[in-house]
Amino acid sequence: MTEKENHGTNAILKIEGVSAGFGKREILSDVSLSVMPARIMAITGKSGSGKSTLLGILSGLLEPQSGRVLYNDDDILKWFDFKRSRFRNRHIGFIFQFFNLLPDMTAYQNILYPSALNVFSKDRRGDAEYLIRQMGLETIRNQYPSTLSGGELQRVAIARAIINKPKIVLADEPTGNLDEATANGIIDLFFEIKERYGISFVIVTHDHRIVERADVHYHLEDGRLSLISGKGSAGLRRFAQSGITTAAPKTKVAKKTAAKKTPAKKASPKKNSARKKIRK
Ligand SMILES: Nc1ncnc2c1ncn2[C@@H]1O[C@H](COP(=O)(O)OP(=O)(O)O)[C@@H](O)[C@H]1O
Ligand SMILES: [Mg+2]
Repeated sequence: MTEKENHGTNAILKIEGVSAGFGKREILSDVSLSVMPARIMAITGKSGSGKSTLLGILSGLLEPQSGRVLYNDDDILKWFDFKRSRFRNRHIGFIFQFFNLLPDMTAYQNILYPSALNVFSKDRRGDAEYLIRQMGLETIRNQYPSTLSGGELQRVAIARAIINKPKIVLADEPTGNLDEATANGIIDLFFEIKERYGISFVIVTHDHRIVERADVHYHLEDGRLSLISGKGSAGLRRFAQSGITTAAPKTKVAKKTAAKKTPAKKASPKKNSARKKIRK
């Protein structure tokens, strides 16, 4: 990582001085972070340390109490809901911890769904076909999520996250529930996708295999985000040895409750009928 990257000059997405909490509890205090183009960032931290909250803020789904969220230097917190939703649909891909696939749609329809939501988006059926081949999903393309294995669900979720060719994919513990071989395959896929499409990944994870290979690694503790490493395994060693002491106990009290919005803020399948139709 260069000095320039550290300062986030070329950042696609940036948060600056963000504090957020629920009720009187402050979860993030004065957090700043820059997502650079075509980089894989790992964020570690204990359960409950605020990792999912941080992803919610990066995507504009959650509003912090203070600070700025900048997409190409434009403050997305100043945008109206519609503009923010469009930003998410076009530029952000999500991979949720529990996949969040739509149960009444087949694998293929789930993959194509984000592009169908965007009436202005190009016809992505060709891209869906490509991703299905690329991810070895041909045999299960017409199956419903309830009939798929964890690894298959996860691959469908990844294909869905990148169908609109977003600039950034936010992934919340994407290998959390997978066996070793499947997890390794998914990690390889992230790196391939990064290379092929130049997509950046922000991955919240406990998985040392992701942390080792990530371009940059941050650790969240006591509301503070610390840069552990700019590149791969050296950082992991430091991480393992350090025990991570970033001190700064929570003292400030959040001023108001962050609006609670569910991350799964997708339109219901029914609404889709009024939009572009997904064909098999
Ligand atoms: N909507 C909410 N209302 C109140 N507290 C919440 C809400 N969402 C998360 N929290 C709390 O904020 C803390 C951080 O949550 P989260 O960001 O999900 O942590 P992590 O993803 O690191 O496990 C947790 O203690 C959690 O209980
Ligand atoms: Mg979480």
